[in-house]
This record gives sequence, structure tokens and C-alpha cells, in this order.
Amino acid sequence: MILPSILSASHLRLKELLEPLHGVAPMLHVDLEDGVFVPNISFGPKLIQEIYDTFGFALDVHYMVREPQRFIDMFADIPQEMISYHAETGVHPRDITVPEGTLLGIAVNPDSPRLSPDILSSIDFVVVMGVHPGFGGAPFEASTYETVSWYDQYRGDRELPFEILVDGGVSRDNIRALIQAGGDHFVVGSGIFKYDPLAAYRELTTLCDDL
Ligand code: DX5
Ligand code: ZN
Repeated sequence: MILPSILSASHLRLKELLEPLHGVAPMLHVDLEDGVFVPNISFGPKLIQEIYDTFGFALDVHYMVREPQRFIDMFADIPQEMISYHAETGVHPRDITVPEGTLLGIAVNPDSPRLSPDILSSIDFVVVMGVHPGFGGAPFEASTYETVSWYDQYRGDRELPFEILVDGGVSRDNIRALIQAGGDHFVVGSGIFKYDPLAAYRELTTLCDDL
């Protein structure tokens, strides 16, 4: 699955940029930023609710915030299929409450240690960051391939069901190698919104399809 990430899209033109993806992309990736965990601020609940009401995209919400539970509660009225927050907050998933039926994941930054067995057995997905978080269009870290392979091997050896998302720096140039490394789903911001969004989305899905 390719998840368009709206952080790098023009916020003023969001409606027209999302319209062509409506009914095509099953899920949208939304980055929430508090200006503390990352040096940037993105969206509040009002805009995300309006996007949901207008298009009905399933939402994968990535909480790049220091206090995940406080922000998860703030957005709790908006239906979210997937929620992730960062391992670097030091908050254990057992201490996080998400709405019933929502999948819970943990995002890991490029320089962070591997997640512990305890954490990996209590989450639905890992978000391997391909960039240092905060902004769209950041440079892709080459260490991402090895990180994705490590989690893929880990889950295979232990028959764990967690899925692997790759977020940041994903493009038509590296998506096939990231699939081969073991990635399941890919968050793409500038690789979609810097171009014609529908054409770029289709190109990426085609690149994935014939693997
Ligand atoms: C990065 C965000 C990403 C970002 C991806 O901090 O978490 O979701 O929007 O954007 P690109 O694809 O441009 O790296
Ligand atoms: Zn993200």
C-alpha cells in the first residue's frame, strides 16, 4: 500500500490536490507535529476532521509529538485506522490507549536503537523512518534498507505479525529496493505532491505491482 502524506502538499490547495486521489488511494498519512518533538508544526483536529468528512479516506496518523497520549486524545473523535507514535518518547505501547479497532504502531528514527522484543510483541506495525523526522522532502537515509531488513528478519524468525511501514524519502528510485528489503507499506509525500498526484501515485503502485 502507498500512503500519500499531506505534510509536503500545499496546505492551501489540499482540496484540489486530494480530489484526484479520492477513491484511488485507500489511506492517507497525516503527520501531527507539536513543535517540540520535531521543530515543525503541522495540522490541528479541525482540518483533519474536514478532510475526513470531505473525502472519507481511511487515516494513518503519525504523532510526531513528545506527549503522544495527550495528542491522541485531542484527535480521538476523528476515525483513525492506524496510529503511530515515536519510540524516542520513551512511552511504552502498554501505556497508550487508542480507540477500539485502531492499529497501533511505533515509529523509529534513523539513529535510534532497534525496538525491544517486549515492544515488538505488543504493536501492530513498525514505522521505519527513512529520514530524520519533521519535514517533507528530507534526504533519504541509506541505513533504512538495513533497518527494514532487520525488522523483516526479526518477525520472520519469531513469526510475529507486525507490519513494516517506511516513512520519509520514499520515491520511485528506491521503492522497489525497499520492498525487497521487506517493507510492506510506503508513505510518500513529496514523491506524490511535487508532481501530478494521481500520475505519481499510479506510477508508484505500478512499480510495486510487478514485484
Ligand atoms: C517526515 C514525515 C513524513 C513526510 C514524508 O517527518 O513523517 O510522513 O511527510 O515526506 P517525504 O516523502 O517528502 O519524505
Ligand atoms: Zn509521517
